[in-house]
Amino acid sequence: MLRCMICKKEIEDLPSYICPRCFGPLEVVYDWEQIKERVSREKIERGVESMWRYKDFLPVNREPVDLGAGFTRFIHAKNLGEILGLKNLYLLDDSTNPTYSFKDRVVSVAVTKALEFKMRALGCASTGNLAGSLAAHAAKVKLPTYIFVPAGIEKTKIVQAAVHGANIIEVEGSYDDANRIAMEMAENNPDWGFVNINLRPYYVEGSKTLAYEAVERLDWRSPDQVILPMASGALLTSVYKGFQDFIKVGLTDTIPIFNGAQPEGFPIVRAVREKAEIKPLKESQTIVHSLAIGNPANGFTAKDIIEETRGYAEDPSDREVVDSVLLLAKTEGIFTELAGGTVIAALKRLVEAGRIDRSEVIVAYLTGNGLKTADVFLNEFSVRKVSKYEEVIAW
Ligand SMILES: Cc1ncc(COP(=O)(O)O)c(C=O)c1O
Ligand SMILES: [Zn+2]
Repeated sequence: MLRCMICKKEIEDLPSYICPRCFGPLEVVYDWEQIKERVSREKIERGVESMWRYKDFLPVNREPVDLGAGFTRFIHAKNLGEILGLKNLYLLDDSTNPTYSFKDRVVSVAVTKALEFKMRALGCASTGNLAGSLAAHAAKVKLPTYIFVPAGIEKTKIVQAAVHGANIIEVEGSYDDANRIAMEMAENNPDWGFVNINLRPYYVEGSKTLAYEAVERLDWRSPDQVILPMASGALLTSVYKGFQDFIKVGLTDTIPIFNGAQPEGFPIVRAVREKAEIKPLKESQTIVHSLAIGNPANGFTAKDIIEETRGYAEDPSDREVVDSVLLLAKTEGIFTELAGGTVIAALKRLVEAGRIDRSEVIVAYLTGNGLKTADVFLNEFSVRKVSKYEEVIAW
C-alpha cells in the first residue's frame, strides 16, 4: 500500500511516485501491528547474512533479488577515534557491498518490486554508483537496462555498469538534466521500472536497513548520533525512518541525533546553517560527484530531520575530503570513496565545534568504495624506481 505524504490519500501498490490527487510524493505504509507480532531479535539474528534478514520491514511480496547486499562490516574505529577525540566511534562500511556502494540496498528492493510488477526493462539516472548497482542486479534478473548519466562523469564508474551489459546514455549537462530525461522516459514507458523514479517509494525503503544494522550491531541500542552523506537527502531520510520502525516494534527506544555531510556549497547544508529554504545550486565544481545533486528531491525532509533531532550539517572543502579519505585509510585500513571522505571531514568539524561529546556512541556511514574514485589520489603519492638491490638498501 502507498500513501500520499501530503494529503494522506491511500492507493494500492503501483509503480508510481506522485499522488494522483495532489501530486504529493508517495510513501509505503505498513501494518505495524502485524509486523510487531512477526518479528523478534532472535528471529532477525537467525536470518540470512544480508539486508534481507530484515525482510519483514521491507515492501516486497516475493523472493527478493539478493546479490548479498547489506550486513556489511561494522567497526569500532579506535585508531581514527583516538585522533578525532572520540571513544565510541563506529563505522558502518558499505564499501564491501556486491557492487561496492550502499546503492545495492535500494536497488535490491526496487528490482524485486519491478519483478512483482512484471516490468520489461529497468532504468535510472545516476551519478555513478547507482548505475553499477542497477546494471548488476538487472543482469541477475535478465532485464535490459538504460542508464542516464551526466556528461563528464568518471569513466571508472560507468565501466562497471557497461561490463554488466547496461545501455549507457550520457546526457549533456548535470545530474539534474539526466534525471529530467529519465523522468520523461518513465512517463512514456509505464512498463519500465526506473528505480529512482517510478519505483522510488519502494527503492528508498532499502536504506532503512542501515539503521537496523547499527541497532543490531550495537546490541540492540540506538547510537547517540549518526552522520550520513547527502546528495538528494533520500538516504538520510530513510535511515531516520529505519530507527522509527524499530521503535514502533520495540527493537530500540531512541532516535539518534542526525548529522549530514555534503560537498562545499551544496544546498542542504547551506539551508541548515542559514536556517533558510533550500535553494537549488545550478553549477558546482566539487570532485565529489557522487554527492553532487544541485536540486535535492528530499532536501526539505532531510533538513527537517536534522533540525528536529538537534543535529547539524557540514560542507567540507574538496581538500578536506581528500585528506579525510587518506586519514581513514591510514588509521583504519578502509579505503572509502569521496562521499565517505566527506562524512569523515564533516565529523571532524563537528567534533572541533564541540557538537559531539567524547564518550557518545557515534555511527558514521561510509557508503562507497575508494577504488571507485581512485583517480583523485593519483597525485597524492610517489613511487620510487630502482634497478638493483643496493639501491633499495641505500634508501
Ligand atoms: C556513495 C554515495 N553516498 C551517498 C549518496 C547519497 O544519496 P542520497 O541521494 O540518497 O542522499 C550517494 C548518492 O548517489 C552515493 O553515491
Ligand atoms: Zn496527495
